[in-house]
Amino acid sequence: MMTHILQATAEAGANIALTKYWGNADPQQRIPANDSISITLDRTRTVTTVAFRPDLPEDEILVDGKRLVGPAGERVSRHLGLFRERAGIAWRARVVSENNFPAGAGIAASASGFAALTLACAAALKLDLSPRELSCLARRGSGSAARSIFGGFVLLHTASRDEDAFAEPLYAPDWWEIWDLIAVVSRAEKAVPSGEGHGLAPTSPLHTARVARVAELNRQLLDALARRDFAALGEAAEQDALMMHAVMMTSRPSLLYWLPETVALMHWVQARRREGIPAYFTIDAGPNVHILTLPPYHEMLREELQTLPEVQEVIPCRPGTGARIIAESEK
Ligand code: DP6
Repeated sequence: MMTHILQATAEAGANIALTKYWGNADPQQRIPANDSISITLDRTRTVTTVAFRPDLPEDEILVDGKRLVGPAGERVSRHLGLFRERAGIAWRARVVSENNFPAGAGIAASASGFAALTLACAAALKLDLSPRELSCLARRGSGSAARSIFGGFVLLHTASRDEDAFAEPLYAPDWWEIWDLIAVVSRAEKAVPSGEGHGLAPTSPLHTARVARVAELNRQLLDALARRDFAALGEAAEQDALMMHAVMMTSRPSLLYWLPETVALMHWVQARRREGIPAYFTIDAGPNVHILTLPPYHEMLREELQTLPEVQEVIPCRPGTGARIIAESEK
């Protein structure tokens, strides 16, 4: 007898936050403490296939060919559970997810991964969900994934209720050709995953000050985006990256994601800027440095970065499209 299978494949890009999601207003629902603005990236993508079937005893999750077990696997299973609940089925699923960016390059795959998984689950189970609902669901898997549902320049809202904490697209990818040169300085797994880090944010005396300041930076960013004012955008992004890391470093226990190579690159970016080159840095929960710049400087900066002893690899990204369904089938 043929087994009934509900299957779909979706694709999504990672994103780089200009103002960061760091700390939760509601940890259970992953509602962020502040609004954040990001750029969805074209180069760092995840393709995920999910197949719900009645004959599986448990969920099976494969990421880049490796079976996810333990807390990482349970996190994906919990996400699948949100969709099972909505569809009113108990079937377990097989999830196969592939990242096109070098595995273990220290680039978070949770945003692209949970955005692709969310879209694939909704399509496989034929749930009729709006982009906002998809964004809220993606957020429950990983906060930053809410933003990867959309392409281009994206705003994620904080809110008091789950259904109001969604992301929305601000501008399409072709609005502004900003480059994010990801300078990989370490491929090591991070010692403290961001999931745990969010919980530590309120232990820093700087957290409240940062959340208040981010509201101003978001206004500055919205204005910078509308006017395509790169200096205003870069200054806001660099300042919030520094504030987020100040919160991390002053949490208890302290989170220090920077390596000596990270700091060397921060100096390098600021030195290029003093020479008149439009370049700003931002850094996520890890040691790798994202260098934001404009054409035609991206070519020259990329070449220079590749010659630096601190840099293992440069991944040049531009604004990319939002999550999309590649295939769906019912067998
Ligand atoms: C530093 O979205 O990775 O990249 O919800 O636990 O998966 P989880 O956290 P995650 O946090 C993002 C942290 C950040 C900043 C950002 O992308 O906004």
